[in-house]
Amino acid sequence: MRGIEKYLEVACRTAREAGRMLKEGQDRGMKISFKGIVDLVTNCDTLSQKMIFKRLTAAFPGHGILAEEGLSHAIDSEYRWVVDPLDGTTNFAHRLPFFCVSMALEHRGKIILGVVYDPVRDEMFTATAGRGAYLNGKKIRVSGISDLTRGLVATGFPYDVRESRINNIRHFNNFLTRAQAVRRLGSAAIELCYVGCGRLDGFWELKLKPWDASAGGLIVQEAGGEVTDFSGGAFNPYHPEVLGTNGLIHEAMRRVLNLPEKKSPGSPGGRA
Ligand code: IPD
Ligand code: CA
Ligand code: CA
Repeated sequence: MRGIEKYLEVACRTAREAGRMLKEGQDRGMKISFKGIVDLVTNCDTLSQKMIFKRLTAAFPGHGILAEEGLSHAIDSEYRWVVDPLDGTTNFAHRLPFFCVSMALEHRGKIILGVVYDPVRDEMFTATAGRGAYLNGKKIRVSGISDLTRGLVATGFPYDVRESRINNIRHFNNFLTRAQAVRRLGSAAIELCYVGCGRLDGFWELKLKPWDASAGGLIVQEAGGEVTDFSGGAFNPYHPEVLGTNGLIHEAMRRVLNLPEKKSPGSPGGRA
């Protein structure tokens, strides 16, 4: 088996095992703690991370790992896994069945593999660089919607939405009156995959972390879509702005994200 096939096989097997653990955890009940006022973590996030770490280090002892829940290991290695052991924690903690496991592999900083597994729908999204994107083994493609007015778009809000002026509310309002509809589904990784398979036409978010966007970003690109920052700069999951679309409405969405702030008299400025 070639390197990339082996990496993909292990990633899918591990994501499936983690997903199963999460689903059982949600059915059984989990312990919740707070990282911030609205930022939750559950015992299932950490259990999932622990298991993924164990599997990856056993299969690829020379690879680095960067994972959300405070785990990093040999991060300067040539190959590095970027892992969200549970994306959609708020949904998960409320028993809303919309969450996933997200795993990406970087080679010298370039994302070469992405796997997002939704255990509730048993949907495995995969992509490897230059070889297309798949859902449960079937090739996927972005939608053909070319007009933002007919586009279903999605977004999310950062955990500091209450404290920070850069909170996405302005962009959300701007899209409400320009797209067909706007959704906030609660898992950036799945939302990007939904752009990849045409269930959504576009997705944007700010202040995402590499474990939220790496795998889903590659899946959008390999499904024929476009991923950039809000200025049109090349996709970089370490950059806080991510805009992923079917390509056809990319410019239209970018224009909306760059609309000037409306300043009300006497106010220091609007909000992002
Ligand atoms: C969050 C989800 C959410 C997005 C947040 C992310 P988490 O990840 O992807 O949809 O809006 O920005 O942090 O905390 O559930 O892993
Ligand atoms: Ca996440
Ligand atoms: Ca997470």
